[in-house]
Amino acid sequence: MSTIYVPVDTIKKFMSLALQKSGVPEPDAEIVVDVLISSDLRGIESHGIGRLKMYLDFIKAGVQNPVTDIQIVKETPGTALLDGNFGMGHVISYRAMELAIKKAKQTGIAAIAVRNSTHLGICGYYPLMAVKQSMAGLAFTNARPSVVPTFGVDPMFGTNPIGFGVPTDEDCPFLLDMATSIGQRGKIEVFEREKKNIPEGWAITRDGEYITDPGELIKATVHKVGALLPLGGLGEETSGHKGYGLALMVEILSSCFSGGPFGWDLSGFDKNGKKIPNRLGHFFIAIDISHFIEVERFKKIAGDIARSMRNSAKYPGEKRIYTAGEKEFLKEQKIPQSGIPVNDSLQKVIKDTIREYQLEIKMPF
Ligand SMILES: NC(=O)c1ccc[n+]([C@@H]2O[C@H](COP(=O)([O-])OP(=O)(O)OC[C@H]3O[C@@H](n4cnc5c(N)ncnc54)[C@H](O)[C@@H]3O)[C@@H](O)[C@H]2O)c1
Repeated sequence: MSTIYVPVDTIKKFMSLALQKSGVPEPDAEIVVDVLISSDLRGIESHGIGRLKMYLDFIKAGVQNPVTDIQIVKETPGTALLDGNFGMGHVISYRAMELAIKKAKQTGIAAIAVRNSTHLGICGYYPLMAVKQSMAGLAFTNARPSVVPTFGVDPMFGTNPIGFGVPTDEDCPFLLDMATSIGQRGKIEVFEREKKNIPEGWAITRDGEYITDPGELIKATVHKVGALLPLGGLGEETSGHKGYGLALMVEILSSCFSGGPFGWDLSGFDKNGKKIPNRLGHFFIAIDISHFIEVERFKKIAGDIARSMRNSAKYPGEKRIYTAGEKEFLKEQKIPQSGIPVNDSLQKVIKDTIREYQLEIKMPF
């Protein structure tokens, strides 16, 4: 067996059927599928179909509710605090960003804090919702602890991603969508699926040795005997402390504004090792550009900034300079035609899922 390229609609149908069999109502399943397929279409293999099983397993284990029931805890014209009641994180986040966009149209800027949520997938999906309405958007989420603070060896916080997007005068928006650690868990899982080593400098043991075996690292973070390094890497020399600071900024936005837990209370296990919800927090911001400046002028300046980067002198041997979101945008133009790459191990997971959930769908493998 090897990698097979599966039509997008087939993958979408498979994911929707599996989610619905797990009890996710069809309209919510469509939202989850849209977030997951956006990841695959943008070439972010770590957070697309490869992650579906994790959500199905969470539902099966009773730590994530298939039916999303969001409660508004507190609300003002420009803010809200939502409680996600451990529903589907993608649906909770979609609704939160939708609310931020609606409010920002009135107030110019709106922020929504979320507590008791679950994994939201790619952070960048939600700023893009704002970008599609000619607005700027930001999204932040905390995550299970897997990253060390500078000079530490305990994994104390998650890969805490940041999403920031604005429209430009091009089809390609500016979209910075990144973990605040060098590597992120999903990428480690991809290395494991592809039976490849992770690069040196991404993760350490408690003795400070680099870990390169992805399977060893995944187990090590759970048992606190190894961890990922923040952006910038080990120590201060290459500015690991700045990545550490950014990660804590995300932790503060996600936990403090929502009054939710942080660090090891997001691990998904109680003190006796019993599985419990991850209890994640998120923070979403929408900014209506027209409250500041004409939208077309904003887009033109944003486009000029991007073009000035791309047109600047290249490092020896490099042909091209990119701006954030550009590589993913380019893939999004190609992948719908070629199909979603599904490697050997993912083919097996999909076949097992079809069998377990008795799904009526045919796959080309
Ligand atoms: N939900 C979670 O808990 C969680 C946690 C961590 C990461 N994630 C998601 O994982 C995904 C991947 O994260 P990542 O940190 O591995 O991303 P990455 O390192 O692949 O890319 C990060 C950013 O850099 C940009 N980029 C890439 N190459 C570039 C270049 N040469 N020049 C300029 N910009 C460039 C990309 O467009 C992207 O915006 C993201 O979608 C993120 O939201 C989710």
